[in-house]
Amino acid sequence: MSGIITVTAPVNIAVIKYWGKRDEDLILPLNDSVSATLDTNVMCAKTSVCARPDINENEIWLNKLKEPFNNKRLQNCLGEIKGIARAQKSVDEEFLSWNVRIYSENNFPTAAGLASSAAGYACLVTALAKLYKVKTDISALARLGSGSACRSVYGGFVRWHAGVKPDGSDSVATQIVNSLHWPEMRVLVLVVADTKKHTSSSKGMQCSVATSELLKYRVQNSVPKRVNDICKAIKDKNFATFAEITMKDSNQFHAVCLDTYPPCVYMRDVSHKIVEVMHKYNEICGQTKVAYTFDAGPNACLYLLEKDVPEVIALIKKVFPTTKQDFVKGLPESLEGFP
Ligand code: DP6
Repeated sequence: MSGIITVTAPVNIAVIKYWGKRDEDLILPLNDSVSATLDTNVMCAKTSVCARPDINENEIWLNKLKEPFNNKRLQNCLGEIKGIARAQKSVDEEFLSWNVRIYSENNFPTAAGLASSAAGYACLVTALAKLYKVKTDISALARLGSGSACRSVYGGFVRWHAGVKPDGSDSVATQIVNSLHWPEMRVLVLVVADTKKHTSSSKGMQCSVATSELLKYRVQNSVPKRVNDICKAIKDKNFATFAEITMKDSNQFHAVCLDTYPPCVYMRDVSHKIVEVMHKYNEICGQTKVAYTFDAGPNACLYLLEKDVPEVIALIKKVFPTTKQDFVKGLPESLEGFP
């Protein structure tokens, strides 16, 4: 049996959304996307892999449950890595003939629109690449598992270039700035529901590509300028511009989902209430202090600067009270009576 390799990989939260593929098999996107990778100790996937001569088939365990291995993307990733190992002669043929056991866990809700597949596949291919000792672009391998996973391979802010080549060789993720560039940046995740979403991202975007007029407009007219502008805002640490583009892109993405036929409805009443509250808060503050963004699910990710975290948490606790704490205590005066 091989040694056990264990790695962790972080979640990334897109500020310019990837939605729609130009190639379903190679997982090539219609548009560039931009995201921030979270610290690994906050929301991450942890995967252990080993190869063994004494197991009859490949095995995968996700969050303690054994899952079928006949998933095409999983098999593509493993097949690709073994192919590279064979070409690089990084391990011997006997080792390559053994089956693998994969054990993966997330420390956050899976499939609730919280980018679990991104962290999961980034983690899986990193672990397998180590197991088979291959030297290759991990990001391109991660993309074969789930598009957004290619961004989780880098820290800081990351851009996934759609590329134009049919073989996908120019569809790569690059780092815009590293994690030290904007150390004050924070993300708050508001879990509205931690249940599995009705329509997976893959299915939803397939349906949008087939039916949404707005998606075509978005890809051609909105995203290219937004990507350029947000990359500049990130480099300049211009929070107001960064936040405005982030919110507009989230809104347009969900408008595309509604323009899809039949519509994909990911946001819920509470999600819409969060949008309303954050706009009201920015208005009261007289400046943009917080940005929301929603992936293919009802949960909100808020981007804000560290100095504003206590105030925004106090606001959330006041507007969406839970039973456990008296959230109004300590609330800054400007928020009294909100909303
Ligand atoms: C809304 O990467 O999960 O989170 O490539 O089909 O696996 P597949 O889709 P996936 O889609 C993520 C969509 C999104 C936006 C984003 O992360 O950019």
